[in-house]
Amino acid sequence: MLKSVKIKVPGTSANCGPGFDSIGIACTIYNELELTLNNSGKLTIEIDGEGKNNIPCDERNVVWKSIQYLLRKAEKKYNGGIIKMSNGIPLARGLGSSAAAIVSGLMAANVVIGSPFNKQEIFQMATDIEGHPDNVAPAIFGGITLSIDQDHIAQCLSFMPPKGIKLVVAIPSFNLSTKMARRVLPNMVPLQDAVFNVSRTALLVGALCKGEYQHLRNALGDKLHQPYRLGLIPGMEEVFNKALKNGALGVALSGAGPCLIAFTTEKMNEIGEAMVSAFRSNDVDAKYVILDIDSQGVQATEI
Ligand code: HSE
Repeated sequence: MLKSVKIKVPGTSANCGPGFDSIGIACTIYNELELTLNNSGKLTIEIDGEGKNNIPCDERNVVWKSIQYLLRKAEKKYNGGIIKMSNGIPLARGLGSSAAAIVSGLMAANVVIGSPFNKQEIFQMATDIEGHPDNVAPAIFGGITLSIDQDHIAQCLSFMPPKGIKLVVAIPSFNLSTKMARRVLPNMVPLQDAVFNVSRTALLVGALCKGEYQHLRNALGDKLHQPYRLGLIPGMEEVFNKALKNGALGVALSGAGPCLIAFTTEKMNEIGEAMVSAFRSNDVDAKYVILDIDSQGVQATEI
């Protein structure tokens, strides 16, 4: 008999400043999903929470597309199913909602058909669907992930920093599609900008691995994507400055934005309020959440 499965997948914050398309962090904000597959020819999708009114509930649904992607790889066929989604990750804000949809669909389908694929294979499929590994890797493996694409093979290392660190995420009320946020990026960058990012990325990974957070402020510097995206997020510089002034260790654009993230070990509420107020003084409504790093990645339970 076919199983039903429940999936819990974390949101993610990709790039972390200089680690464009490479570094990602799993965060303690989650989407949950229940899947039953059948051959009724009928697809039922129920959505609660984020995206309730704008995620498609038919064959265009990304979770369903990802389920079908994995089934094709496994040479299995199910033309119907029941999906119940309970979404905590805001849509199109730079917290990995699209990666969460892909990973939860792949993982759910895999477990329902008896887990023919391991996590590495799921990671490869998710990267192929998403186009870059930095959001899907932390959603799958948890922790802070460092990912590369080597000749179309996705490779990832995941770790937890030795000391706790909090992520204060300012969530503006407007959406920004990754497609649009990638369109503003140049095809070529000066060598000195590439060197700037290589050195910051190296320092960032070292600082996070050793818990030497005093390096974060400079280590989060970036010249490959954030400066080009400034124009898409009103008040971005001011939000960053206010967070730093109120005690943040460092700041970055979360993924392709528009969420902005501050790293800290103290004064979380002061930092969050300062970030929100800086957004508001730029006519952008916003709220903030305080998150931890999720160490587990996607979890599946048979039901
Ligand atoms: N690395 C990606 C970007 C993350 O910044 O465009 C969003 O998918």
